[in-house]
Amino acid sequence: MTSSEGNKLWGGRFVGNTDPIMEKFNASIAYDQRMWEADIKGSKAYVKALQKAGLVTQNEMELIRTGLDKVFDEWSKGEFKIKPGDEDIHTANERRLKEFIGDPAGKLHTGRSRNDQVATDMRLWLRDAIATLKGLALQLINTMVERAAAEIGILCPGYTHMQRAQPIRWSHWILSHAVALSRDVERLDDIRKRVNVMPLGSGAIAGNPFNIDRELLRQELNFDMISINSMDATGQRDFVVEFLFWGSMCLTHLSKMAEDLILYSTKEFSFITLSDAYSTGSSLMPQKKNADSLELIRSKAGRVFGRFAGFLMTLKGLPSTYNKDLQEDKEAMFDTYDTVHAVLQVATGVISTLKVNQVKMEAALSPDMLATDLAYHLVRKGMPFREAHSCAGKAVCIAETKKVSLSELTVEDLQTVSPLFDKDVSSVWDYIRSVEQYSAPGGTAKSSITAQIEHFRTWLQAQQQ
Ligand code: ARG
Repeated sequence: MTSSEGNKLWGGRFVGNTDPIMEKFNASIAYDQRMWEADIKGSKAYVKALQKAGLVTQNEMELIRTGLDKVFDEWSKGEFKIKPGDEDIHTANERRLKEFIGDPAGKLHTGRSRNDQVATDMRLWLRDAIATLKGLALQLINTMVERAAAEIGILCPGYTHMQRAQPIRWSHWILSHAVALSRDVERLDDIRKRVNVMPLGSGAIAGNPFNIDRELLRQELNFDMISINSMDATGQRDFVVEFLFWGSMCLTHLSKMAEDLILYSTKEFSFITLSDAYSTGSSLMPQKKNADSLELIRSKAGRVFGRFAGFLMTLKGLPSTYNKDLQEDKEAMFDTYDTVHAVLQVATGVISTLKVNQVKMEAALSPDMLATDLAYHLVRKGMPFREAHSCAGKAVCIAETKKVSLSELTVEDLQTVSPLFDKDVSSVWDYIRSVEQYSAPGGTAKSSITAQIEHFRTWLQAQQQ
């Protein structure tokens, strides 16, 4: 072995040494070591296929598999020592295997390339990551649904354009965010189908020349499918991009929820009080209690979207099959995973511990938010909606001119707008009646919210299977 060869898996054709700066620039071990387990799993399966194809003996296979178990052991005990020249996790594991078992280690890579190896490792790793994130997302949804069930009796203002719109149930607000998250969970299931496809056996570009049993590999590694085309299998990272988009979408949903809660926790609103466990103070202003947890949740959507946009741009215009640019997939994937992993847990903590101030929420309701109800009152008496909308608008205008609230207008005042008004209009000025009108599926009436909760409970149960 020449000095330039070292541990390198590709040293044979090289004469000089690699520039140390290039060595560092090229290496991915600092982050791809996270895939140590997937890498060993893939190799343990691969050597079985090699044995079946007659490329290693039964003895060599056993030697390699027990050697890999020793490497596994070191990683799991945190004892694995990364050495200079361990360019990536694949190189490091093979180097260590050789230290354990000697030359037979050199047979493990027969017909395999790091191109199909790394794509396999990534997919195995992401498959587990998806399962973990799904579990955390379900926990958050469950927390939201149970909170909505417990607080179904609380009313609050609903806003559009951040202006006071119509009364709603607080539970309706919670569930609106839970629905978005449930779509994220379903998207994750869908992404998993495309992640769980096995590239192993694709070699560097052209496939495997040794009649490797890919079906055996698929079963060993629990993949749903075998990749269809070796060039696609080694050169595509669209499954990573999908995951990065997923993270961006999920955190965008949570940033919206966080923004509402930040606003609701201000002294001006005082609809909710964030638990101390998820707040921080100011180093200067002793009275401050800041909603840092929610602000950080809100912020992370930007970070993850940056990963998504950045990696998609790395892919744009790349030539076919493997190019080293693809090594950029890992930090984007890990960082997105870590970020979403943290956000989902903090969000669950925030939602399960915040206090709702029912008195403040309901005190914030005002008769102007019933102007739509006033129009519907006329509609129920036979007036076309367009005309009713205009009449209710005129009533709002009269109340504003007289500096009284809408509900304080007399029947006589209202009759100047429409003769259809009489004293039964008093039934309009009731917030509970208002929300109870919206009893069609998806609305804010108690029965509709109970149905939403039932829907979620059934859905959650099905997801847990
Ligand atoms: N560390 C590399 C990566 O993450 C492994 C694949 C290297 N393949 C190659 N042809 N140099 O992409």
